Amino acid sequence: MQFSLTTVLPAVLAAFIPLTQALPANLLSRATIQQIADAQNQWRSDTSDVSQFLSAVPSFLGAGSKLSSAAQPALASEKDELLHKKVLDDAFGSDPRIINANEVLVNQGTFQFVVDSLQNYAENGSTMSDDDVTTLLQQVNSVRCGKVLPAIDMYFVVAGEKLNNGGTLVATRPNNC
Ligand SMILES: *[C@@H]1O[C@H](CO)[C@@H](O)[C@H](O)[C@H]1NC(C)=O
Repeated sequence: MQFSLTTVLPAVLAAFIPLTQALPANLLSRATIQQIADAQNQWRSDTSDVSQFLSAVPSFLGAGSKLSSAAQPALASEKDELLHKKVLDDAFGSDPRIINANEVLVNQGTFQFVVDSLQNYAENGSTMSDDDVTTLLQQVNSVRCGKVLPAIDMYFVVAGEKLNNGGTLVATRPNNC
């Protein structure tokens, strides 16, 4: 016999919600631990995507349409970072180190500068001069390597303390920091 998802889902939810409410506290916090681990791993993976793109930018000089296409997934990864950041903000938002790192990333506009730069490559890469491509790379690397990635590292330090599994992640740098 087959059940459609819409038929079965309300019953599953009805069974699940009281169960969740009845879970002992240590099981609930274990779920949170998993979310923290996933958030930091996926955030690091996104930083790695963007760093690989920035490392590759010099190889796209004279190949603007390739630059533009390669920038699009990098831009998507950069924006995706905010979802993982939010999980860690929700978990650690009152930690002074997180408040500081968030100040750098959000209030100082450094994260948005990276987003805007990647968007510029994505939208304008095919018509930019080589000089403009190189100048933008220097600007984005300066802000990202100098401010953004160290602030992300701080999120990973705080997450690593909580996870306490013997390792702390470091945001992947491009080879042209
Ligand atoms: C693309 O280039 C135009 C013209 O220079 C500029 O106005 C626009 O802001 C650029 N797009 C992005 C996303 O920076």
